[in-house]
Amino acid sequence: MESAHAHRKDEHLAITEANIRKAGPQANFTDLRIIHHGLPELAVADTDISVQLPDFNLPVPFYIEAMTGGSLRTGQINAQLANVAKETNLAMAVGSQSITLKDPTSYASFEVVRQVNPDGFILANLGAGRNAADAKFAVDLIQANALEIHINVAQEIVMPEGDREFYWLDNLAEIVAAVDVPVIVKEVGFGISQTTLTKLAAIGVKYVNVGGRGGTNFAAIENQRNHATDYDFMLDWGQTTLESLIEGQLSSTDITLFATGGINNPLDILKAQIMGAKMTGVAGHFLHTLLTEKEVGLTNEILTWQTQLHELYALVGAKDQTALTKTEYVLSPELANYRHQRLGK
Ligand SMILES: Cc1cc2nc3c(=O)[nH]c(=O)nc-3n(C[C@H](O)[C@H](O)[C@H](O)COP(=O)(O)O)c2cc1C
Repeated sequence: MESAHAHRKDEHLAITEANIRKAGPQANFTDLRIIHHGLPELAVADTDISVQLPDFNLPVPFYIEAMTGGSLRTGQINAQLANVAKETNLAMAVGSQSITLKDPTSYASFEVVRQVNPDGFILANLGAGRNAADAKFAVDLIQANALEIHINVAQEIVMPEGDREFYWLDNLAEIVAAVDVPVIVKEVGFGISQTTLTKLAAIGVKYVNVGGRGGTNFAAIENQRNHATDYDFMLDWGQTTLESLIEGQLSSTDITLFATGGINNPLDILKAQIMGAKMTGVAGHFLHTLLTEKEVGLTNEILTWQTQLHELYALVGAKDQTALTKTEYVLSPELANYRHQRLGK
């Protein structure tokens, strides 16, 4: 008999998949339009999509975001995702490892990711309420190259068994100081604000994944699990991914930003990069492809996306990520208004 925690991971998986196309408002990447120029003077073959970060480099600017592990079923999915990551040279995050802190029978569902992909770039994952010893354990269990710490207040509020205490900054500071791999603080779909970035920078956080609204909607997922109390009014809580990246642009910190939340194609990736995301994570969309088209379908999709990203770089005349920042764009009236109201907050 698997634990309640393991059961929750299975439920997230099932509800996400059932709602993949309809959970809450979608990410509005159409709110940003790239200006087309007809003479880029560049060849697809001369573009470089690799990413150089302060502490590590990656060949591809997108990765498989944190989803699974903890139960038998999600362990199998982790193994499949790890195999795809290996075949496509992609980084991959595991789902929250908090279950491993109390249930040794869950170890294998995470360890399999390292076994399948011994040389891959793998990110460990834990919640912000954990301490430095927990974080070191999570990293060691899968010999992780980096650690994601998720902040998910809105999810906890809607979650039937969710936390009600959110004193997290001291723990985060302790973790950042103690672990010897880069730490990425990530939201899980409610976005980031300038104030949150400032608080994180003050405790030494160098990487933040803005995890914006518009993709997988944990308010909707938890609300579906929460049969006792209705939280329908929370479905559009938080900043979208593009709004969060605007927060990043307006922030005075020099935190390196990643983005997730509603990224469904290579153009979404390009737009997130233009708005300042160095890396982009994809969760729900890749899960859907894996469940419907198996490993071979997901491998093909990811390889196609890599080719298409090279093409898009050529289309906008950017030979690499640094050149992308010069891309011209216009914002929709709604997003321009958001930016205007949020100046200097
Ligand atoms: C089934 C499922 C399980 C998830 N579990 C975790 C988790 O354990 N830890 C975490 O940090 N994020 C988790 N996430 C959030 C994703 O990593 C990502 O931030 C979010 O889904 C937004 O990306 P998307 O719109 O591409 O799905 C999960 C997402 C899905 C779909």
